Amino acid sequence: MTERRKILVTSALPYANGSIHMGHLVEYIQTDIWVRFQKLRGHECYYVCADDAHGTAIMLKAEQLGITPEALIDQVRAEHQQDFSDFLINFDNYHTTHSEENRYFASLIYTRLRDKGHIATREITQAYDPEKNLFLADRYIKGTCPKCKTDDQYGDNCEACGATYAPTDLINPVSAISGATPVEKASTHYFFKLPDFADFLKAWTRAGHVQPEVANKLGEWLDAGLQEWDISRDAPYFGFEIPDAPGKYFYVWLDAPIGYMASFKNLCDKLGLDFDEFWGPHSDTELYHFIGKDIVNFHALFWPAMLANADFRTPSEVCVHGFLTVNGKKMSKSRGTFINARSYLDHLNPEYLRYYFAAKLSASVDDLDLNLDDFIQRVNSDLVGKVVNIASRCAKFISKGNDGVLSNTIADPVLWQRAAGAANGIAEHYENREFGKAVRDIMALADAANEYIAGKEPWKLAKEAGREQDVQDICSLGINLFRVLMLYLKPILPAMAEASEAFLNDELNWQGEPQPLLGHRIDNFKRLMQRVEKEKVDAMLEASKEALAAASSKPLTGPLVDEPLAAEIGFDDFIKVDLRVALIVKAQPVEGADKLLQLTLDIGGETRNVFSGIKSAYNAEDLEGRLTVLVANLAPRKMRFGVSEGMVLAAGDDKGIYLLSPDSGAQPGQRIT
Ligand code: MSP
Ligand code: ZN
Repeated sequence: MTERRKILVTSALPYANGSIHMGHLVEYIQTDIWVRFQKLRGHECYYVCADDAHGTAIMLKAEQLGITPEALIDQVRAEHQQDFSDFLINFDNYHTTHSEENRYFASLIYTRLRDKGHIATREITQAYDPEKNLFLADRYIKGTCPKCKTDDQYGDNCEACGATYAPTDLINPVSAISGATPVEKASTHYFFKLPDFADFLKAWTRAGHVQPEVANKLGEWLDAGLQEWDISRDAPYFGFEIPDAPGKYFYVWLDAPIGYMASFKNLCDKLGLDFDEFWGPHSDTELYHFIGKDIVNFHALFWPAMLANADFRTPSEVCVHGFLTVNGKKMSKSRGTFINARSYLDHLNPEYLRYYFAAKLSASVDDLDLNLDDFIQRVNSDLVGKVVNIASRCAKFISKGNDGVLSNTIADPVLWQRAAGAANGIAEHYENREFGKAVRDIMALADAANEYIAGKEPWKLAKEAGREQDVQDICSLGINLFRVLMLYLKPILPAMAEASEAFLNDELNWQGEPQPLLGHRIDNFKRLMQRVEKEKVDAMLEASKEALAAASSKPLTGPLVDEPLAAEIGFDDFIKVDLRVALIVKAQPVEGADKLLQLTLDIGGETRNVFSGIKSAYNAEDLEGRLTVLVANLAPRKMRFGVSEGMVLAAGDDKGIYLLSPDSGAQPGQRIT
């Protein structure tokens, strides 16, 4: 075996203000497959991630929902973790950037850079919302396009005519948050002096740490000249205050990548690992960041410059992937192709998508397309039609003829050797993130195995006298070939591999060249994967349309979430409840009960005595003379203080109680339907 490598792997940290969608999954599935491969090869490999919890967007969203940012990021993190785990993405740690570890490392890196003279401060002028008392980033300003005069254009470019401009050029600019007219306001900002590191970055980006096409793009930016990077934001902001600058906060992108370190530190504390061995300036461990092409500047310019000048190691490689399209187009809410992780999981097996993405992934930054017809066809034909088919055709003869025990010989050594000998080439494809090539090689072996079985026709031989041993030998080789295929597919299909391990009564390990199972007892075959059904895919698209139509109005929290709607009832059930307009003639506190008021109600000639738990919200005297609604045919209930004859209607819970009242003009005793 080759030496045991020490590898730390990350995926980009998803923002804590939205759900995980198919596009994200390209990245997390790609990374997870690579990590599972490294672990399967016996290397010491850790995969860490976290939610990216800071910034204005999260602060505003929490405010809109009426909850604290901390409550919002906790909810979203729980949702993200469930989505990832259901897609079989196996993080060793999932943390948050709003953590003490991250505060520590952000402050440490900042102060080291500052002490070496790489931080500048200067005053800048920016748009400011005088109502919200908030500086406005470009995307929070809208107005009329100065060029084509289209209304309601955001920030610095027009969606109608494509013009680019400064937000200050907009006609009638308004704050997208409050609607107020922005004013110009000056403030001191902190800058990371990136141009100090131009030479370092020119060398670093050409030293094999990024793909060649990424290096070329970075080269263009480097040639155009680097700007100082604005790393501060003014209060109010959800983030970490800058150590020596009260009221100034680290810009979310300053502490986001530091979140990789923070999550790993958190893992080190759990497992007793040596943090410095992985992050120290002379570390000889490997560090890989998997990211999308939209965030290359942060990871391949700012990040290595920060690390190298704050006494930490730099990444071994930043692995950049392209963007996902669905059916050849950008994901679209109206077409239903903006598919959330959860909408997919509600209808389809996660391993279908893992396989499909793997089959399409390469080490390039090209975009990749989820074509749903191709998806169905490919999964059904490759996984169900080819791989599972080998096992299902062969297993029955092994259990029937030989009590589940495989033959002691390999019927076709050349074929076996071809399959076993493919291990290194396939491993190299995995290592190089050429998953599509790995899948292609694996499926070529599956084709060869199926051709072999089809040519030998064991089901015919089984009917001929004296051919029992041949049937056993052919099918035993079939099972052995299936086993090698599942070993090669294990990083992509962990659940199916696990089910196969149960069937094979054997753990699939990939150290060196695979050896056949001879004279080994296997277990009963159970179906390993069902076909993808088109109806399920259609249902998923339909649900995505609906989910997204509802998403704009559907909060993460609130009454409907706290207390979902009750089961549907018929009118006949409803009409059994007799609701009447009631006049509160008298209201008084109840001795010995701090929550109750005793109400005397007139319902048009009859009086009722009702104890109601509304004392925390109302003064008794304020209620007298007021109309409300009584459930008039509720069976009387004996309480410690007397008998309660019905219930008055109120909304709310312990945070607030709101008694119902009919519009004025209603008469006591009137029925409410
Ligand atoms: N929070 C930042 C990353 C901070 S890393 C220190 C962020 N978050 S994100 O939620 O917008 O994106 C997370 C990752 O998903 C990014 O690498 C991004 O490129 C990737 N993708 C988001 N949408 C995508 C597609 N449609 N297709 C492929 N990858 C996509 O950026
Ligand atoms: Zn325009």
